Amino acid sequence: MKAVIFVGGFGTRLRPLTCNTPKAMVPVYDEPFIHVVLERLKAYGITDVILAISHLSNQIEEHFGDGCEHGMHITYVHEDENNPLGTGGALKNAAKYIDGTFLAMNGDIVSNININRMLNYHKSYKAKMTIALHKVDNPSQYGLVKISYDNKVESFIEKPKADEVNTDTINAGIYIMEPEILDLIPEGVNCSLEHETFPKILSEGLPFYAYVDDSYWLDIGTPEKYFKLLTSYMTGELRNNIFHKITDVVLRAGFVSAATSTLKGPVYMGKNALIKDNVFVRGPVVIGDNVIIEEGARLENVILWDNAHIGKNVKLNVVVGANNITFEDDTEVSGTVIGDNVVIRKGCPKVVDCDIQPDTVVDNLDKLTQG
Ligand code: GTP
Repeated sequence: MKAVIFVGGFGTRLRPLTCNTPKAMVPVYDEPFIHVVLERLKAYGITDVILAISHLSNQIEEHFGDGCEHGMHITYVHEDENNPLGTGGALKNAAKYIDGTFLAMNGDIVSNININRMLNYHKSYKAKMTIALHKVDNPSQYGLVKISYDNKVESFIEKPKADEVNTDTINAGIYIMEPEILDLIPEGVNCSLEHETFPKILSEGLPFYAYVDDSYWLDIGTPEKYFKLLTSYMTGELRNNIFHKITDVVLRAGFVSAATSTLKGPVYMGKNALIKDNVFVRGPVVIGDNVIIEEGARLENVILWDNAHIGKNVKLNVVVGANNITFEDDTEVSGTVIGDNVVIRKGCPKVVDCDIQPDTVVDNLDKLTQG
């Protein structure tokens, strides 16, 4: 079975992390997120993958090429970088590569949904379309899917009002379809699967079934969920063959850590970490390559990508940051998401609950937006 993966969205909710990096390339330890998705498909024998790309697409193509280094065959279908076609339009764009029952999925989710079982289910119902549904405690921020007693899809409610929440199952963003579904999507125009194609399948009366699954599922749509993903790997709540449970401290090649410093796991630091005297790090903390942590710095609940410089006596608590961030001496940051190439200047007041855009030098709080 072939798979089409949608990786062309703007990822606006994950900004400023996604200003220069597509959501698919956001790092999970030292691998881009989409690598995790591809490995999971490979485990089900799905190696022929079509990536529907748009925003910042060259980074994805440059990293994965034709997929052969990853044991896969990857085909790319392109949309305009500034005018992506929506998930429906992206799927239609891939139609020429589809020759039988296929999987389609959002490229920003990890899940333990068993694809083989879902495929058997799809075949046993002779469905034209099967949608995976996931149960959540608070469904109000998702697209809801109402189903009948015999698992037929009945209706969709996007972003429901409180009194419209009549189900706890949400669209998990994983679909198995027959090629006929592609005939319902217009060519070359923006189209949403969720808003346009799925209602059309219902109105045409095609067999449309729901596969309900309550195994692990998470989308990395927001910084909070991205943080949750990394901690899920650390705690072992989520497992795969790339990342293992991190209960203690993992420092990659080239690290130097002063004996006077304390690292309490789970902590992961990439290559060439330099940790000076009296540093205190309490996990969960995930930092990329080439971090320098100066004397007396204190970090808790922190994710930083590559090339971070953390000055003397800096205090970071609940911080998610992209590449090349400098925290000058004595600065304090909490509850904040930071884009690439940011400098927090010495003398800046404590930064709390902000989003900091890429290439910003922060010496006061005036320019900052509240996160
Ligand atoms: P937000 O802007 O934060 O909503 O993120 P997003 O743009 O990624 O949208 P959303 O989370 O709804 O997208 C779910 C999945 O579909 C993600 O993997 C997106 O990359 C992908 N996606 C969304 N819109 C498009 C599109 O127009 N074209 C393609 N190829 N993929 C899309």
